[in-house]
Amino acid sequence: MLKILVMVSGGGTNLQAILDRITDGSLNDVQIVGVISNKKDAYALERAKKYGISAICVSKKDFPVKEEFNQELIKQVDAFSPDLIVLAGFLVILPKELITKYENKIINIHPSLIPSFCGAGCYGLKVHEMVLERGCKVTGATVHFVDDGTDTGPILLQKAVQVHQMDTPETLQKRVMEEAEWILLPETIRLIAAGKVKVNGKQTEIME
Ligand code: GAR
Repeated sequence: MLKILVMVSGGGTNLQAILDRITDGSLNDVQIVGVISNKKDAYALERAKKYGISAICVSKKDFPVKEEFNQELIKQVDAFSPDLIVLAGFLVILPKELITKYENKIINIHPSLIPSFCGAGCYGLKVHEMVLERGCKVTGATVHFVDDGTDTGPILLQKAVQVHQMDTPETLQKRVMEEAEWILLPETIRLIAAGKVKVNGKQTEIME
């Protein structure tokens, strides 16, 4: 059984996609042991509680000193003893200490085809605004391991999504979620749980 900890900042539709696949039986041998949010009012926390999953908030607002926030975050993560940490819209830069401790055990979903539209300041709706501003015809989503850069870790899965002429950032975000994110994230977890992922430096090998 792969014990996963999901970290969130917002609505938690990606968390819901994982929950749905566990519920329908297509994601076996995976248990969500906890959910951590950095926002007290994140709807993702409610989603977790509905499933009886332990859901907590670690907010920067409660820790004026950054290092104290970092240490609390690490403490809370460790308390769940996760085999895999899933960043599902967690919009906080992780402490380096945490990344080192959980090397190749943290994955992140990003709403573009990395290396396009990623890095510092590229998150959420902003990504889709930038894609439309640049006039891209195709975008997508990426799941990658987290290393000590921003969106620079080994890529696991990617899926392309068409941009439509009439798209707004909101309509594009919805299509990228429906056609890519909600499929890719549970699928990546399934592959990791099944031992199908090998990391070779900057690259991954999926042994399907
Ligand atoms: C998702 O689109 C995810 O890809 C994005 O935040 C959203 C969270 O939505 N993550 C990033 O931009 C990370 N750089 P959700 O809370 O409904 O899953």
